[in-house]
Formats: sequence, structure tokens, C-alpha cells
Amino acid sequence: MQLLDGKETSRQIREEIAAEVAAMKERGERPPHLAAILVGHDGGSETYVAAKIKGCAECGFKSTLVRFEDDVTEERLLEEIEKMNADPELDGFIVQLPLPKHINERRITEAIDWRKDVDGFHPVNVGRLSIGLPGFRSATPAGIMDLLERAGIKTKGMHAVVLGRSNIVGKPVASLLMQKSEPGDCTVTVCHSSTRNIKEICRQADLIIAALGSPGFVTEDMVKEGAVVVDVGTTRVPDATRKSGWRLRGDVDFDAVAPKCSWITPVPGGVGPMTIVSLLKNTLLARRGGVFE
Ligand code: GUN
Repeated sequence: MQLLDGKETSRQIREEIAAEVAAMKERGERPPHLAAILVGHDGGSETYVAAKIKGCAECGFKSTLVRFEDDVTEERLLEEIEKMNADPELDGFIVQLPLPKHINERRITEAIDWRKDVDGFHPVNVGRLSIGLPGFRSATPAGIMDLLERAGIKTKGMHAVVLGRSNIVGKPVASLLMQKSEPGDCTVTVCHSSTRNIKEICRQADLIIAALGSPGFVTEDMVKEGAVVVDVGTTRVPDATRKSGWRLRGDVDFDAVAPKCSWITPVPGGVGPMTIVSLLKNTLLARRGGVFE
């Protein structure tokens, strides 16, 4: 069993990005600029946004954080988005999800200029990804593909089983895995809450992408000997031994499953750090221009 080490791989990619940004600055060019809009004080969102801002600093990017309280109106958010869309010195921006119930996430996502949509959530970017055109790939699926590529895992012809059909992970990662590309070129099965025989389907998988948000769902009896297992789950579970009172737990029962795998991601330190670096990669692409050519 070998670890798919997202922490180390993301460190390498961050170094590559930082070197390119340093060269830009030496040439007297403006560094990439990412902005984030954060609404309210959700613990998870605060942590993710702080990591994104820290990633910008590590790579020499300019970053801007715009915060609103929970009671912000949709109109005020749309106004801020319009301002960011029109700012020529801003390469890309994100609106951290989830948003409060009174705000329509779809309206917000669609208001973002897709040329600045470094999250890759806008329907134009999702559509381009699904037909294999260049564009902003959403961060978690892109991070998974980079992790597989950098480990030298040849996925051509594999049966990939994706657990979960979310718009952010399940659907786009299934699209990427089925593209005629390397990594990619897989036969893909997407399983979800209404899937029958989920254990039998998983047992046929050469590659499992677990993105259900159900801690420990993938057990030893669901995994074929030699399979590659990528765990996207990051659920906070109570842990009295930690100062915080919680720890992150993945969708895979790691201790029991790992001995059967050829490769497996840990949680934390697997997909999570790759997600942040994918956002930085998209922002660098946005700064360079020509993403959609
Ligand atoms: N909420 C959870 N993941 C993400 C992400 O990748 N981007 C944004 N904007 N919100 C999120």
C-alpha cells in the first residue's frame, strides 16, 4: 500500500506556482489577485477561506477577503459580485458556500463572470468540462486528477466507481474520469443514495472516489485487492482527546481498507490540501489569460 500524499504533492505544486509568480514580479508584472466573499461565521467556511488566503500569501498572490454578516441581502451580494466582475486588476474570485437560506446560491453562482469563476462552479465552466473543453475545473475534482497524475497512476481502462453525485465533486469528477485523457479514460459508475447493490459495485472497482460525506462508509468488504481509493470525505466527528473536541473523518474506514489498496489517500492530508492548490492554479491561469482557447 502506498499513500497518495496530498500534503506533499500540494507543497510541490505550490512551489512551482510561487516560482512562476516570482518570475512575473521580476519582470515587473502584476501578481495574480484572488478575492473571496465570506458570509457569516460558519466554522468550516472560516477555516477553508483562511487556508485559501494563506495559500495566496505562500505563492506571492495578492488576496482580498470581503466579509458580510448572515443578514446580508442578495442584492448587496450581487452588487459586490458586479464590482468584482468589472475590476480589471482582479483575476478571479469565489463566494464561499454554503450561503444563508434566504440567498439563492444558483443566482449568486450564475452572476459571477465565468471568466473569473476560479471555483469552476458556473454552468459555462461545468458544461465546458463535461464536453472536454478547456476552462476552470472545479477545485476538488481537479485536485484529485492532479494527485493521480503526479503519483503516476495509469487509469486508462479502469472501472472507476464514484460514490456521491454532488455538483461540486461527484458529477465533475465522473466527467473528468471518463474523458479521453490521462488520467481519465475510465469506465465510470456513479453511485448515490438510491443505488442498489452498492457493495457489489464497489467490489468491481479499480478506483473508488468516495464523496458521500458519510464517515467510514467504505468498509474492507467493499474494496477489491489492489484498488486505488480516494477519500473526499471530511466530516467533523467528536473526539474528546483533541483540544478542539473534534477531528476530521473520511468516508473510508482507513485502517481496515488501507492494507488492501495499491494506493489510498489519508484524511486529513489527502484531497483537502490539493483542493486549495487547485484554486491557486486556476487563479494563476486566469492571470495568464487564454484559459478558454
Ligand atoms: N464550500 C465547500 N467547498 C467549497 C469550494 O470549493 N468553493 C466554495 N466557494 N465554497 C465551498
